Amino acid sequence: MLMNQMSCAEKVVEGKLSVTPVSSEVKWHNGVFKLNSSTTFTVDAPEIDKSNLTSYLLASPLNIKSSDIEGGDNRIVLKVVPSLDGMTSSEGYRLSVDRKGVKIEALSGAGLFYGVQTLLQMAAESSDIPFIEIKDEPRFQYRGMMLDVSRHFYGKEFVKKQIDLLAYYKINRLHLHLTDAAGWRLEIKKYPRLTEFAAWRPQAVWKEWWNGDRKYCEQSDPRAQGGFYTQDEMRELVEYAAQKYITIIPEIEMPAHSEEVLTAYPELSCTHVPYKQADFCVGNEKVFEFLENVLLEVMEIFPSEYIHIGGDEAGKASWKTCKLCQARMKKEGLKDVNELQSYMIHRMEKFLNSHGRNLLGWDEILEGGLAPNATVMSWRGTEGGLKAVKAGQKTIMSPGQYCYLDGYQDAPYSQPEAIGGYLPLSKVYSYNPVPDSLSASEKELIYGVQANLWTEYVPTEEHVEYMLYPRMIALAEVAWSKQENRSWDDFHTRALKIVDELKQKGYNPFDLKNEIGNRKEAQAPVEHLALGKKVKYNAPYWENYPANGESTLTDGLRGGWNYNDQLWQGFVTKNRVDVVIDLEKDTEIHSVAADFMQICGPEVFMPAKVIISVSSDGENFTVLFEIDHEVVRDDEVSFKNFGWTGTANGRYVRYQALASDKFGGVLFTDEIVVR
Ligand code: ACM
Repeated sequence: MLMNQMSCAEKVVEGKLSVTPVSSEVKWHNGVFKLNSSTTFTVDAPEIDKSNLTSYLLASPLNIKSSDIEGGDNRIVLKVVPSLDGMTSSEGYRLSVDRKGVKIEALSGAGLFYGVQTLLQMAAESSDIPFIEIKDEPRFQYRGMMLDVSRHFYGKEFVKKQIDLLAYYKINRLHLHLTDAAGWRLEIKKYPRLTEFAAWRPQAVWKEWWNGDRKYCEQSDPRAQGGFYTQDEMRELVEYAAQKYITIIPEIEMPAHSEEVLTAYPELSCTHVPYKQADFCVGNEKVFEFLENVLLEVMEIFPSEYIHIGGDEAGKASWKTCKLCQARMKKEGLKDVNELQSYMIHRMEKFLNSHGRNLLGWDEILEGGLAPNATVMSWRGTEGGLKAVKAGQKTIMSPGQYCYLDGYQDAPYSQPEAIGGYLPLSKVYSYNPVPDSLSASEKELIYGVQANLWTEYVPTEEHVEYMLYPRMIALAEVAWSKQENRSWDDFHTRALKIVDELKQKGYNPFDLKNEIGNRKEAQAPVEHLALGKKVKYNAPYWENYPANGESTLTDGLRGGWNYNDQLWQGFVTKNRVDVVIDLEKDTEIHSVAADFMQICGPEVFMPAKVIISVSSDGENFTVLFEIDHEVVRDDEVSFKNFGWTGTANGRYVRYQALASDKFGGVLFTDEIVVR
């Protein structure tokens, strides 16, 4: 009987699901449910979710009607259930399709919403929905994106359009960087100068403002460019996002990145002089009064558990000489300005906690002692985040090398000007936020992951979308899908399709199918006579950019489009590269050459002079080649090979590259190729 049953059992033909982020568990059965214009849906969930999901489905491309009639066929049933076998996340869901229709079950409205996103993606492929059972839940609770609306301001409708897309890929946090030197972007009723004045500049484009005199202007000035969200507009955005299960997290910068505040209200800086300082005066009680008043209004608008207080990149210089700051340090027993920063952060944390909120801040909030309940957003690599979890505190990983979407996503020469860096889609996708080295309890404290779009070089809304997509979708899969279920090849195939879909939907993504990729030199190791040979440094390399230490220049590995790929070695000491390679025996050589790069923004320049010489004894060198190069400041990212060809003999090869007197900065080279 059993044998019989088994031989009768249908062989299941497994299909391929094109859902992003990729789901946890998928079981296939044979057959399809045909979604059509007579299909109806019902939502069994708490009132607010029922209302949300009903409106959402009615407006969706599924073209289905709501019906509360129980039972029957051709149905989509959404139901919040008290438990779901093995599911621990309230955002998880089970989606089952059979001949009666589609059933989505979850522990919460958010879970149902994510099941709906999966269904929408399946239905976008075909209205024949395969008989399937999907069990899916997020890897991380916090799946975020940050948009900097200070450097350039983007309107409410544009933000909504991004929320639509983020929700489709199961992102659940939108962090808005609302305040920075370039403009204050949120109406605060108690401090009207923040938006009458500090939200406006005579230059629309950040770079022109930054390279100019960095002034603000009155809103009424005919030159005024910029803007802000009124409190009503922001409430509308918060509500819009909440309907898509996205929490908007506001960031109000302190103690630094506050030039705009300190020009509108100069009495809050150490010197009281407008256009002079970026840091609030931490010695002045009025500063706390101001910040608390601002945060009170902020908390009225944003129900978010987290309020982000920035905390990054404080210069702290004025605190060292300010009477009030010095008096505060003395009174509170603070030994340095780092502790003064901590004093402020701790105090703001207490204030937020007393209002039932939690503090979120960039990883500098660790310096001088971490606030006790704070969550750290790790941006200067992962170190800060790892330190926080080791101290038992939650962290959100957002390291620059994987999560900063303001870097170039392809060969810089093919792209609009960016801040620098090189972060192709594959690199975002390769990020695993949880290192194996952590203990199980530390791993639990990695609360999530976030990608950030800083917008210094992103002046238009079209350009925002270009920088975000598809990289943000790679991050969405990093954030939602299990590490073992992710595959770059599979994602890349889906991403190519997603880019086409985004274009059809009116977004402006990067044209992935025409991606050039990394610098060709970086794509394969190079063979040459000096490979693996010892290098003596007459001038040391810069410890900030060591690459692979003393083996870097002869390891056969060449660098890519940016110096941050750990293949380029930096030199700052005495502004020179001066190294000697020992070929171990007298060798006939025909060429010696090395590449340099120039990116003027971060002060990376070509050498002004290169000298190549050889020696048989390592003492007496014969110069083979000496060349001068005129270094000119420009907006390009460029690469240049400096080398000699000819015939010579020797055991030791010396390579010297000297920076120009005019442009010091950093020299970067990756390999000295000897043939
Ligand atoms: C940052 O990028 N300054 C957080």
